[in-house]
Amino acid sequence: VAPVCSLNETLARVVERIDEDANTISLWLKPNRHWQKHTPGQHLTLGVEINGRRHFRVFSVSSSPDARLLRITLRRQPGNGVTNWLHQHASQGMVFSLSQSTGDFTLAQHPSKSLLFMAAGSGITPFMAMLNSLVHNHYTGDIVLLQLCRDEQDRLFRGELADLQRHLPGLELIVHSSAEKARLPCEQLAELVPDLAERTSYLCGPSGWMEEVSAWFDTHDLSEQLHQERFSAPRPSSSKDGNTKVHANQAEHSFTQGADQTLLEAAEAAGLQPPYGCRAGLCRTCLCQKRRGTTRNLVTGIRSKQPDEWIQLCITVAESELELDL
Ligand SMILES: Cc1cc2nc3c(=O)[nH]c(=O)nc-3n(C[C@H](O)[C@H](O)[C@H](O)COP(=O)(O)OP(=O)(O)OC[C@H]3O[C@@H](n4cnc5c(N)ncnc54)[C@H](O)[C@@H]3O)c2cc1C
Ligand code: FES
Repeated sequence: VAPVCSLNETLARVVERIDEDANTISLWLKPNRHWQKHTPGQHLTLGVEINGRRHFRVFSVSSSPDARLLRITLRRQPGNGVTNWLHQHASQGMVFSLSQSTGDFTLAQHPSKSLLFMAAGSGITPFMAMLNSLVHNHYTGDIVLLQLCRDEQDRLFRGELADLQRHLPGLELIVHSSAEKARLPCEQLAELVPDLAERTSYLCGPSGWMEEVSAWFDTHDLSEQLHQERFSAPRPSSSKDGNTKVHANQAEHSFTQGADQTLLEAAEAAGLQPPYGCRAGLCRTCLCQKRRGTTRNLVTGIRSKQPDEWIQLCITVAESELELDL
């Protein structure tokens, strides 16, 4: 029996590992029959078993749904997390569980003849799925891809992008390397892409840069045409003063949440180990019941004031003293 056979679980076997650079690997996966095709730009949740415990992490699919296999590309994060483990251990034949793909960061949701893709670092991954799929569909529209990197060595998929340019006549690639030209100020966006206001725009990269670009689009009244994929949750505003006391019922332990921490980070800093997956408000692994107090969701801005409401620890901050079922 092949290891990916399962009555109901979506499993995938690693067929090939490619080291893209010192910290980034791509895994080509062969999923079993339960996998339904993704829409380019969507992400999936990968289940990885490490020392007998299954961990769940979210990755964008970086291949086109028309490819024979499925590709994910992951950059190793500092610390001893899942990406670091995969970087050290992922190899041909290894089997992972997969969720079906999800997400609305897709071209199908916002069809347009004129596109701007803005990618920094590993934020290029969902765009690789989109571009490969546009090649497959013989797309002739106009695309500007602005790719930010530290230097040319750090520029992910540079070979594949050069190939894609040969097959997509309307693709213009603008590379901005911070080692050569320092950080790209948002004011330069309109100089680099003069017809930016007429384009449907897509943004994916580190959260600080995404916040700057998103604020620039807001200021120029262009936010309606900007679509964003966040790899992490918005940060709490550190301008707010003070610590808030949190009581964890099950652990019988009290800790404080600093103004620049989420509840998940504060609990972890206090030595608790709440389960988590995406740390971005998507997978709901970190759901926790709040018994008492007021919290604010950083993504929606909605406050939870009623007792016994469920909150997602990774995207929630305390606004008063709290009691949690943790
Ligand atoms: C929609 C989406 C798509 C994504 N697509 C991709 C992709 O295509 N490629 C890719 O490389 N990544 C992608 N990511 C990011 C990826 O999911 C994370 O890099 C990955 O989950 C990191 O897992 P890890 O176990 O290695 O790190 P974790 O151990 O989970 O740490 C992740 C980060 O969380 C913080 N952290 C961890 N523990 C603590 C703690 N105790 N206190 C405070 N902070 C802490 C650190 O800043 C760390 O860098 C995506 C994320 C989302 C939400
Ligand atoms: S860890 Fe995924 S929603 Fe919180």
